[in-house]
Amino acid sequence: MASPDITEADVRAVAEVMRSGRLALGPKTEAFERAVAKYVGTEHAVGVSSGTAALHLIIRALNVGRGDEVITTPFTFVSSTNCILFEHAIPVFVDIDARTLCIDVEQVEAAITPRTRAIIAVDIFGHPADWPSLERIAERYGLALIDDSAEALGSSVAQRRCGSFGCAGVFGFYPNKQITTGEGGMIVTDDHEMACLCRSMSNQGRGEEEGQLCHVRLGYNYRMNELSAALGLMQMSRIDRIILARRRVASLYREAFSDVGDVICPVPVGDVKVSWFAFVIRLSEVFSQADRDAVLRGLSLRGIDARNYFVPVHLQPYCREALGTQEGDLPVAEAAGSRTIALPFSNQLREDEISRVASAVREELECVC
Ligand SMILES: Cc1ncc(COP(=O)(O)O)c(C=O)c1O
Repeated sequence: MASPDITEADVRAVAEVMRSGRLALGPKTEAFERAVAKYVGTEHAVGVSSGTAALHLIIRALNVGRGDEVITTPFTFVSSTNCILFEHAIPVFVDIDARTLCIDVEQVEAAITPRTRAIIAVDIFGHPADWPSLERIAERYGLALIDDSAEALGSSVAQRRCGSFGCAGVFGFYPNKQITTGEGGMIVTDDHEMACLCRSMSNQGRGEEEGQLCHVRLGYNYRMNELSAALGLMQMSRIDRIILARRRVASLYREAFSDVGDVICPVPVGDVKVSWFAFVIRLSEVFSQADRDAVLRGLSLRGIDARNYFVPVHLQPYCREALGTQEGDLPVAEAAGSRTIALPFSNQLREDEISRVASAVREELECVC
């Protein structure tokens, strides 16, 4: 469904690290961190092994633990919830805004209780959450705000880059993301103490000064390696071109569906710039989940890889079991989840490939009508 944008220069940069003998804890990771921090506009960046690891470290650094509640969105990848469950805290799901598919800020305040410690909002598919409103709420109630921007490197709200909102933000570099390091993630923050804590915990709890064999706190091996960082650094050097290429694919898709009333295409809402992670269309309400699934099967038979991004987290079997959540709890997220189709999406997608996908979707829709 996605394919990474890897150049010969990227391959050479990774090979150079392999030849250098310095494969971990080295200058490439430091340079990649500096490049991301500068781009996002934060004081600090800490490279880690995945977006999930990044979220987990922030939750640990905030000391969120057993019985604490963290407000989050159900319409996301499971990591935004899992980092809460890792620490035996309780995810409190708030429904989403039907236009942006991000957390509905109008409903956040009603979910706050004396046990609420934090809010994790997600810039879903690259579309920014309503960060100005979330920052006001977090400040009013003294809550930590975490920007899960794993899917939104390069998106912004009122000229401010996603990832830089709240006390810390997160990026993910899995191969379907805007830039990739194979596997990898990054924490970005202006909070010096948060950055130091996350760095220490990502490196088995080592301190800054105490040396390799002194572990001052409980930690993990969540480090980014030098090969990944070398690839990330190369990719960061052409981030603007990558985002433009993805924007072009998104607008060609939009054009291709402009006369199909039953297909709702994603569009930026408000004073935002979107760096598209995926292009996820929604079928109108005349279609059921079964219709959508039939369309997905039809596309698959034609050799087109499309997915039902996302099954809301509260309906995942492990969440139902752990939290007792069920259908009907979060109607907007469930309605979205039952009608979405994530289409093939990558920087290199050609115009004829986009037309072929759009025609196939139209024909499959006619079949289920
Ligand atoms: C919104 C969101 N948060 C977190 C993650 C986790 O990132 P990773 O797969 O690098 O652990 C992802 C991954 O796709 C994601 O989409």
